[in-house]
Amino acid sequence: MNYYKDNMTILKGNIVYTKTKEEFIIAKNSYLVAVGNCIKGVLEKLPEEFKEVPVRDYKDNLIVPGLVDLHTHASQFNIRGIGYDKELLPWLESYTFKEEAKFKDKTYGRKVYKEFVNELYRQGTTRAVIFATIHEDTTQILMDLLNKKGICAYVGKVNMDRNSPEYLIEQTDESIKKTEEWIQKCKDKYDAVKVIITPRFVPSCTTSLMNKLGELAGEYRIAVQSHLSENVSEIQWVKELYPESKSYAHVYDDFGLLGQTKTIMAHGVHLNEDEIERIKKNNVFIAHCPSSNVNLSSGIAEISQLLKKGVKVGLGSDIAAGEKLSIFNSMACAIKISKLRAACLKDKSKPLTISEAFYLGTKGGGEFFGKVGSFEEGYEFDALVIDDYKLWKFEKGSIEERIERLIYLGDERNIIARYAFGKEI
Ligand code: GUN
Ligand code: FE
Repeated sequence: MNYYKDNMTILKGNIVYTKTKEEFIIAKNSYLVAVGNCIKGVLEKLPEEFKEVPVRDYKDNLIVPGLVDLHTHASQFNIRGIGYDKELLPWLESYTFKEEAKFKDKTYGRKVYKEFVNELYRQGTTRAVIFATIHEDTTQILMDLLNKKGICAYVGKVNMDRNSPEYLIEQTDESIKKTEEWIQKCKDKYDAVKVIITPRFVPSCTTSLMNKLGELAGEYRIAVQSHLSENVSEIQWVKELYPESKSYAHVYDDFGLLGQTKTIMAHGVHLNEDEIERIKKNNVFIAHCPSSNVNLSSGIAEISQLLKKGVKVGLGSDIAAGEKLSIFNSMACAIKISKLRAACLKDKSKPLTISEAFYLGTKGGGEFFGKVGSFEEGYEFDALVIDDYKLWKFEKGSIEERIERLIYLGDERNIIARYAFGKEI
């Protein structure tokens, strides 16, 4: 009779989440009730029927949704924080490709991926969408490690068959064959780690590779991720490669790689109106990667306008172009650069608010995974418990102020419990 009660988790504390980007929902001293992986609700008082379920009482601590990273490169974990005097294309040539080539060696790959997964866990990211490398066997090691740690993820074996160094390039047929084998082997292997088709970006994939990847996505109904409109030189290069195409985004669209199945495009810094319209129409997610865009001098994406137009947006750490895996750090950076953009350009863009940034890093990105990133009834049960005592040595502020300070000053030391996909991890 009590089957569902056996499967119940009740957390008590100061519960904070965003239903819409406009405002926080705050329930002080309340109960977050979940059955398995499903949120039942946030209650001020526990009804009689739940009396015998043990309550995990986190006292005055904050309980927030797990963080969602919509774009990061596990294979670049070991080159964080270096090479930022360069812009995107020279940075790829001088640091990134060389590092990714090392993942041909599974022992090296396992070592770095282990560190990456541990750090993702430490930083409170419960959901992530990740680039690996072209090496499908090392990619599987990453998937195993994420699964073991209890982190929910989409992981992509990268495809690249042109404009790449000879030590990090695939033959077109081999790239497709390996990708399909990897899809068949891994697509149903885990509960919460999934495959995602990953053409690196337009310049590194031939027309015939992109065509085939679009077909594979459609045939197996698999999600897609790539990079879009990050840097001015990159955009110019795409124009030279596809002079007949209406825009960079339209190149992906023409190959069935822009929302024909669930899609994330990282960056979108320099999108034009036609592209924004197509992205919105095709329900494509933009992964806003503020730290990366600062470090590689890429520019400032116009996030307030994308949100206003109804484009789906989440946050990405974009390691190693971004220096830190923390999504709280990405929230703070997104707010800061939005303020600079609004102050310097005096166009229609507006500074992001605290609740907007929090929304992007939880429910906004979470939507890619389904009902994720909120504590509304029916959402999946991902949560973090935050002890911010040390951030407030004298007198604690309001709950909203505590969230704001957490975004700016918090780190992994403030996270005292993590729940993902219905269980404590
Ligand atoms: N565009 C193509 N590859 C990459 C990458 O590895 N990082 C970033 N930031 N942009 C890219
Ligand atoms: Fe990236």
